[in-house]
Amino acid sequence: MSDTTGQPAAQTPYERFGGHAFFERIVHAFYEQVALDPVMRPMYPEGDLTAAEDRLRMFLEQYWGGPTTYGEVRGHPRLRMRHADFAIDADARDRWLHHMAGAVQQESLPEADEAELWGYLVSAAYAMQNIPDDPADAPGIHRARE
Ligand code: HEM
Repeated sequence: MSDTTGQPAAQTPYERFGGHAFFERIVHAFYEQVALDPVMRPMYPEGDLTAAEDRLRMFLEQYWGGPTTYGEVRGHPRLRMRHADFAIDADARDRWLHHMAGAVQQESLPEADEAELWGYLVSAAYAMQNIPDDPADAPGIHRARE
């Protein structure tokens, strides 16, 4: 593809990462782990995770410049609002990220692409946390006693 300047049209991250097949693979690998996770699995009300898998895949495809099916089917993402009913503490957030890291690491993205994708996923997961960290986990203050 080329634009009117004769330069190749800039690829979207969606295309660079590997298009539909890429997102299908990472979201599927992610949900395989969610299905086995004793904290995360009970959060999903539906017995079958297929519909949730489709929603996350469509959302990520749209976010990275691919088809806009998510918006057509679900409307504005409002992701924080849609997560409000789920108790997402630091543990749930880290479990989400752990499963996603496993899925992304199975791919062989160039380093810069992987860093771009991962940076987004980390900040999105932190933004979705809706139960604050426990102040009991804060570092203590240790003064050397004379
Ligand atoms: C931080 C930990 C997270 C937990 C525990 C969590 C859990 C859930 C649960 C239980 C659902 C409901 C299943 C469904 O009906 O689709 C859901 C939906 C969804 N989540 Fe998460 N989520 C987390 C983070 C994220 C992040 C970081 C993203 C995006 C990058 C995301 C994107 C979505 C999307 C797109 C939906 C479907 C929304 C809709 O259209 O109804 N989630 N999540």
